[in-house]
Amino acid sequence: MPRWSSAVSAADFLPESRDLDELAAAARRCRGCELYRRATQTVFGEGPPTARVVFIGEQPGDEEDRQGRPFVGPAGKMLNVVLDEVGIDRDDVYVTNAVKHFKWVPRGTRRLHAKPSAREMTACRPWLEAEIAAVEPLCVVCLGATAAQSLLGPGFRITKQRGQFLQTRFSPRLLATYHPSAILRAPDAESRLKMRKEFVADLRKVSRHLSKA
Ligand code: URA
Ligand code: SF4
Repeated sequence: MPRWSSAVSAADFLPESRDLDELAAAARRCRGCELYRRATQTVFGEGPPTARVVFIGEQPGDEEDRQGRPFVGPAGKMLNVVLDEVGIDRDDVYVTNAVKHFKWVPRGTRRLHAKPSAREMTACRPWLEAEIAAVEPLCVVCLGATAAQSLLGPGFRITKQRGQFLQTRFSPRLLATYHPSAILRAPDAESRLKMRKEFVADLRKVSRHLSKA
């Protein structure tokens, strides 16, 4: 139950259990921040508890919000293509987001993605930490700055620390790379190609680590 003495967060809704299905069920009722009010539903992570890699995005997009499943829209489609390209088995992957509700602003008839605030990321982090603890992956991949900053602090820069395995308290091997949406939104074909190449190289590094393990 929410405590009156401190800010409400997902921690107030977390069950004792570390079972992924029970975590997902509890997250459906989360009111840890204001974002649940305007979203259709909680979009919890998905994947087998035996997955050896956890991928973390920013938040559900429009399509994910409607379907209630992470990475089913354009970013997810691109991620799947690249996973296939580098030989990471989809059954070896758990995908989730730093924030579990879609934050948006109206733009005409469309719902435009809005970046979650530091407060919202902090409020939602208990779910993310519980998912990582439940899956115990060999490595964690942060897709984009929001995911990386949620776990590593606001000073993290993708431009400086992309593609390196870092030892963190969440995982002995954490790597941050581009968000697929950032690649899709690149300003021109040349930078899109360059980012995609770097993204593929980063995920190859993860794939190689898995094949050695
Ligand atoms: N972008 C994200 O960060 N997460 C999703 O689930 C979909 C798009
Ligand atoms: Fe709870 Fe996270 Fe949704 Fe906020 S965004 S209500 S903390 S699940």
